[in-house]
Amino acid sequence: MVQWTAEERAAIQGVFATLDYESVGRESLARCLVVYPWTQRYFGGFGNLYNAEAIMANPNVAAHGTVVLRGLEKALKNMDDIKNTYTTLSELHSEKLQVDPGNFQLLADCLTVVVAKHMRTEFTPDIQAAWQKFLSVVISALRRQYH
Ligand code: HEM
Repeated sequence: MVQWTAEERAAIQGVFATLDYESVGRESLARCLVVYPWTQRYFGGFGNLYNAEAIMANPNVAAHGTVVLRGLEKALKNMDDIKNTYTTLSELHSEKLQVDPGNFQLLADCLTVVVAKHMRTEFTPDIQAAWQKFLSVVISALRRQYH
């Protein structure tokens, strides 16, 4: 089981406390779709993803960005059992959506870039270390139901 120090827990809570789910969710997902355009293939039903401008303005991208952050909040609320918390979500991405599991890291990296942009100097190396660990646990839990 993953062990968390009190400092790591406080750091991760602190990052979430600064996050505006709507803007950070949208920016992160949009960045992922622009920087790694092959990720667009899973969002065929989302409408216009023609270029960066269209992606940023796409209401489906915005809505789904918020959904992703709410999904991450579940991990925050269940930090001692992230693996089991994500069983259904992992199955969904693996079996139904057939998302290549390498893409989880790409979206997580985009999220980190956006968090850094928003927190600026508050996103210290120590805070980033805790945040990175949290995202690694999330990614490994999301990959768990892939066979
Ligand atoms: C940090 C990683 C991720 C988290 C926390 C996450 C979370 C979620 C959540 C909570 C849902 C909604 C599930 C439901 O409706 O029950 C979802 C759906 C979905 N996810 Fe992810 N996801 C992640 C990464 C990805 C990646 C990397 C991709 C593809 C590149 C992806 C593609 C999708 C798609 C296509 C849907 C369905 C969207 C729709 O049609 O509304 N996800 N995800």
